[in-house]
Amino acid sequence: MQLPPSLRAAIEQELDGIALGDLARAADALSQRYRAEVQDGRLHLADDMAARAYLTTRLPATFAAISAALAAVAQARPDFAPRTLLDAGAGPGTATWAAAQLWDRIEEATLVEASPAIRAVGERLGSPLPRASWIAGGLDAAIASLPASDLVLLAYVLDELPAAARIPLVERLWTLTGDALLIVEPGTPAGWRRILVARDRLIQAGAHILAPCPHARACPLAAPDWCHFSARVARSRLHREAKGGTVPWEDEKFIYVAASRRAGAGSTARIIAPPQSSKFAITLKLCEPDGGAVERSFEKRSGAAFKQARKLGWGDALP
Ligand SMILES: C[S@@+](CC[C@H](N)C(=O)[O-])C[C@H]1O[C@@H](n2cnc3c(N)ncnc32)[C@H](O)[C@@H]1O
Repeated sequence: MQLPPSLRAAIEQELDGIALGDLARAADALSQRYRAEVQDGRLHLADDMAARAYLTTRLPATFAAISAALAAVAQARPDFAPRTLLDAGAGPGTATWAAAQLWDRIEEATLVEASPAIRAVGERLGSPLPRASWIAGGLDAAIASLPASDLVLLAYVLDELPAAARIPLVERLWTLTGDALLIVEPGTPAGWRRILVARDRLIQAGAHILAPCPHARACPLAAPDWCHFSARVARSRLHREAKGGTVPWEDEKFIYVAASRRAGAGSTARIIAPPQSSKFAITLKLCEPDGGAVERSFEKRSGAAFKQARKLGWGDALP
């Protein structure tokens, strides 16, 4: 997954002249805060250097994860053509850029962001949409005056909120959702549990689950297993240097739920683990429309079914 060229150029300009040592230290501090899910009353992106570290090491990954989740929405709802968008906890506007890449009729975005540092960066990056309004401040204060929108996005935010604030926010965002609401979280067991709670609440509120689940029953997975997906992200030279990594890519693990006021085009099983292939067969772990999770093998001698299975990847819905 590559960033849109105009976003990449704007990020490069934003990072021009930054001392690598400072960036690497800020990236390391940020990564430790994210990994430990620190909640100490401070925003993770509290200053300019943390915001720049986010652009370097996190934005490409969250962009890839959000794009993959949005692609699943578009697949479930080929008729969906949002014109308005609400990006809650927008950071530098990652989810807005990802949505603009997929749907070319979005005219207007409202982006809400509590951190002045990352908001300023997001404003400087510019917008891929004809109209974008940034709202400064916390979602709890802003929420009463936010516009209803065709597409509502809450990407990598739930984990930063106190547990008691999560469901009230999801409920409020659902009331603002004209058509589809997408929530994305890190693909950890804790992220999966947060998504399950949000999913349950959305189903109770009458939402149709578009993806990734092909059903609205209880999740068939039980700990220590958990549902998550993976998106491959190209790493820039600066990204590699800031993280001390050598490979030109990384795999971002993520989990999401997409809910809508309208049903999807028909649910088919989804691949919920990396496909296992041998000389003779491909085995897919599937979440099925009847609410079960099973492993199915497609043998080479089955011909067409095997050929089709070979083209599919982790996270795909069966054709
Ligand atoms: C991990 S970043 C995700 C940014 C962006 N959505 C993305 O996926 O790249 C989480 C963002 O949510 C913001 N945030 C956290 N709590 C918030 C709140 N209560 N109100 C508004 N923004 C909040 C943070 O400042 C941060 O920019």
